[in-house]
Amino acid sequence: MEKKWWKESVVYQIYPRSFCDSNGDGIGDLNGIRSKLDYLQNLGINVIWLSPVYKSPNDDNGYDISDYRDIMDDFGTMDDFDALLKEAHEHGIKIVMDLVVNHTSDEHKWFIESRSSKNNSKRDYYIWREPRNGKEPNNWGSCFSGSAWQFDETTGMYYLHCFSKKQPDLNWDNPKVRDEVFDMMTWWCDKGIDGFRMDVISMISKVEGLPDGKVWPGSKYGDLANTTNGPHVHDYLKEMNKRVLSKYDIMTVGECAGVTIGEAKKYASDDQTELNMVFQFEHMGLDYDENGKWTTKRFYLPDLKENLTKWEYELEGKAWNSLYWDNHDQPRIVSRLGDETPQSAKCIATILHMMKGTPYVYQGEELGMTNCRFGKIDNCRDIEVINAYKDIVGSGKRTEDDFMKAVEAKGRDNARTPMQWDSSENAGFTTGKPWIMVNPNYEKINAKAEVDDEDSVYNYYKRLINIRRNSDWSDIIVYGEYELLDPKDENVFVYLRKLNNKTLLVICNVSSKETEYRVPVDFKDEAALLISDNENVKLQKDIKLPPWFAGVWEINLNK
Ligand code: NOJ
Repeated sequence: MEKKWWKESVVYQIYPRSFCDSNGDGIGDLNGIRSKLDYLQNLGINVIWLSPVYKSPNDDNGYDISDYRDIMDDFGTMDDFDALLKEAHEHGIKIVMDLVVNHTSDEHKWFIESRSSKNNSKRDYYIWREPRNGKEPNNWGSCFSGSAWQFDETTGMYYLHCFSKKQPDLNWDNPKVRDEVFDMMTWWCDKGIDGFRMDVISMISKVEGLPDGKVWPGSKYGDLANTTNGPHVHDYLKEMNKRVLSKYDIMTVGECAGVTIGEAKKYASDDQTELNMVFQFEHMGLDYDENGKWTTKRFYLPDLKENLTKWEYELEGKAWNSLYWDNHDQPRIVSRLGDETPQSAKCIATILHMMKGTPYVYQGEELGMTNCRFGKIDNCRDIEVINAYKDIVGSGKRTEDDFMKAVEAKGRDNARTPMQWDSSENAGFTTGKPWIMVNPNYEKINAKAEVDDEDSVYNYYKRLINIRRNSDWSDIIVYGEYELLDPKDENVFVYLRKLNNKTLLVICNVSSKETEYRVPVDFKDEAALLISDNENVKLQKDIKLPPWFAGVWEINLNK
């Protein structure tokens, strides 16, 4: 496999609205991010993925863009952006922009024109259909509840929106749309940005004729399978690659809802004709049930191991993997898989950071930030939760109490509470009134306390990142092959990494119980410790693992 800087990187995702507020309006902003570059450099990451900062009416917190070449008022100005980019580079940090081009905002000038008349030159920039028997053109449901179609009075037709009705889907089959998007991307690349994270990029090509989706039990609408990994998605990405991406030394990661391994090998194949890597979602669905995400069900470790391992094995030598637990759409992993203790945060981090692929850290994950007890729906801000609440609690399908438990376990707002900088009011995030509640545990979990504490989750992440990026083991951690041991064990996650004659052994006790473990490979006595959260635990054939123990050694296998 070819060596590349983005394979050797560690990415830190910033959700600007919740990161750091510099002007006291209760909303994070670009100057807030600038003020924290030292903190990020100290952590050791070398890439920031910036969730959308473009002009937006904020129906979906910036994932509804009304001008791709301007900055959201809440976040600052283009000058602030330019300064951020320059200063980040001075700190040795690259900036990857979020590229949201499956849809725009309904307030984007293209859509305003498109909806104005059937003959408008931009009409075909979006997906318009006549009513079917006086109703929606097909049965598709939106990801944010309700139909995926919105009737528009002006022309008496429906437009497609896979997300909120303020996020109309672009028509990628129209070459003019592709020209516009590629021009805009070129404009940003020429500015000097370092890559794109591509929002739901697997959804840009819809199956011709827009056939109905499957209606799953309990659902009123058809699914969106006919919008995902569609017939031309690879053609469009190859075209994008040829016309834009291949001209710059940038990194790309596609958010690919519904992606299978087979598809991922095409999107992220090592021959670099489309994208560098994809985000897959299979592991994130392993704690869903018949209510979809709205459940308190937890992961079953063997399932999680099986899934992550499948991706490691199948992409080996063919396509590059991305590794993440958290992002702005997911609850906090330390609550979801761990028990909210620092030990569990470190253990879970070790599992991920020692695997093969590019790791992503989501803001606050490096502090062990947890899910939030929102208590009532009024404390939530996310359009997905609010729509689902109306749908599920409003119609009497579930009680408020029961639904809110699921929200506190799986809702996206768990990731969006303000970054916890210190123990002062509002966690040092803002001097104003925060746009969303601060997690009350900020007095205990915050950056100020952790940066100075050697034993903190923050400093453990720092060590993990440092051994991946700057140690004698960097090569094996980035490029070594992965091999799972004991797949069925319900408590421990153990694997090897191998490169040339070197072998690493990773042992994580994913449990709040002490666990007796017999290492299933034979190794010589002398082993070098790379990292551990408890250095009193010595590696031996039979080993007593404290709760949430994590350790990584270089071993010599007995052949
Ligand atoms: C995926 C993004 O990560 C999510 O936050 C957003 O709501 C949808 N795409 C729609 O853009």
